[in-house]
Amino acid sequence: MTEDTTPEALAATHAAAFTQSRPWTAAEIADLLADRFTHLSGDARAFALVREIAGEAELLTIATHPDHQRQGHGRRLMETWMRKAAQRGATTAFLEVAEDNAVARTLYLACGFGLVGIRKAYYPRPKAAAVDALLMKRQFP
Ligand SMILES: CC(C)(COP(=O)(O)OP(=O)(O)OC[C@H]1O[C@@H](n2cnc3c(N)ncnc32)[C@H](O)[C@@H]1OP(=O)(O)O)[C@@H](O)C(=O)NCCC(=O)NCCS
Repeated sequence: MTEDTTPEALAATHAAAFTQSRPWTAAEIADLLADRFTHLSGDARAFALVREIAGEAELLTIATHPDHQRQGHGRRLMETWMRKAAQRGATTAFLEVAEDNAVARTLYLACGFGLVGIRKAYYPRPKAAAVDALLMKRQFP
């Protein structure tokens, strides 16, 4: 798995990490990697996909394989993609996170993101009520 950045390996990590929502397929990830506005940080242990357009960076997804969680990968990835986006000219970053995803919310707060909006009942959940999406944003200095 080390340093593997193939769409198949990234999709396997995405599927292992996201247990509450539909995982992205290798084809979907390949399409994103082929998009000139989308940038990958990390590898199949832990990765982030970020779309950067007109000075705005959007975190599309971030996932650490369960075998490697709680080892600092997520925090380092956040710092890496934000640094790279700022170097490419981004001045603002935003992301969406499910209201019930306490781990990710804690990580984003620690990385300087603040709540700017709520999309009600945005994420469907299997056999449960849909969950709100929290829209979070931060500026780059
Ligand atoms: C969110 C995610 C990427 C974090 O990755 P990670 O590599 O485990 O992150 P880190 O080891 O850098 O931990 C960063 C912080 O997140 C929080 N955190 C991570 N795992 C946690 C856990 N099991 N319980 C509580 N807090 C946790 C802590 O605040 C931690 O900081 P600390 O270790 O200094 O206390 C990972 O949990 C994941 O892939 N989750 C499933 C996918 C997902 O929800 N992605 C975000 C969608 S918006």
